Amino acid sequence: MKKIAVVTGAAGGMGRAIVAQLLEDGMLVCGLDVDRAGLDDLAQDDRFTGIVTDLTDGAATNAAFARIEAAHGGVDALVNNAGTCLMSEFPDIPEAEFEKQMALNFSGAFHCCQAAVKQMMGRAGVRKIVNISSNGAYNFDAFDPPHYRASKAALDTLTKDLARRYATDKIAVNSIAPAMTETPLFGVVSKEVLDKAIAQMPHGRAMQPSEIAAWVGFLISPAGDISSGNVIILNQGRDVR
Ligand SMILES: NC(=O)c1ccc[n+]([C@@H]2O[C@H](COP(=O)([O-])OP(=O)(O)OC[C@H]3O[C@@H](n4cnc5c(N)ncnc54)[C@H](O)[C@@H]3O)[C@@H](O)[C@H]2O)c1
Repeated sequence: MKKIAVVTGAAGGMGRAIVAQLLEDGMLVCGLDVDRAGLDDLAQDDRFTGIVTDLTDGAATNAAFARIEAAHGGVDALVNNAGTCLMSEFPDIPEAEFEKQMALNFSGAFHCCQAAVKQMMGRAGVRKIVNISSNGAYNFDAFDPPHYRASKAALDTLTKDLARRYATDKIAVNSIAPAMTETPLFGVVSKEVLDKAIAQMPHGRAMQPSEIAAWVGFLISPAGDISSGNVIILNQGRDVR
């Protein structure tokens, strides 16, 4: 029987690559996103189901997971990928922007974990949660603003808590924390800032979404069964001192 994966932010740059990887790996994929057109596009593949969901709305998120349970009986893997980087400067970050940043990058993932863990219980094999964090939580030279960094640091602490909490239930929870990866999110900064950040990458280029997706696929595959509670930083070795 095919395994069921849920990917949030499925219609975005990283999300599409993760969906493609998991389909290639033989899973059925449910994608949650606010981008209806993007989900419809992905649904041309009948192994993919899109559910339009605003992940900052806990009730809507629970309703999406209820639909997944009704259709598939549960979940084997969850990739919390939806996220954004809002760029106002400290100390003038508007309260609404702060709340929005945390609501999507942290609270949305938190609610998905709560819903998914219940549906993972009792299923075969090692079930997986992969949280897409950011190198920005650990590198303080790059341009990332503090509310973005903090949202990802909170996500990584959730990774560790859940890894410990569910180890004997065989639910493995890891974070992947990429640096510069070429997606539409690059649009949040000017070309000048972007070029400088890409020039600091040791390979002289940004990473591609498919390169990050390959690591997600590895963690979700049986080869990834023995990793839990890790934050895997992908940055071509940029920050090694
Ligand atoms: N691109 C990078 O360089 C980079 C680096 C480190 C981490 N990340 C992380 O990777 C993840 C994916 O980002 P990306 O680069 O693919 O960006 P992206 O903007 O291409 O994709 C984000 C997706 O999230 C969806 N989304 C936004 N708000 C939503 C909401 N309220 N509910 C549901 N879906 C919503 C968008 O519609 C979009 O499809 C994010 O968590 C981001 O923080 C990206």
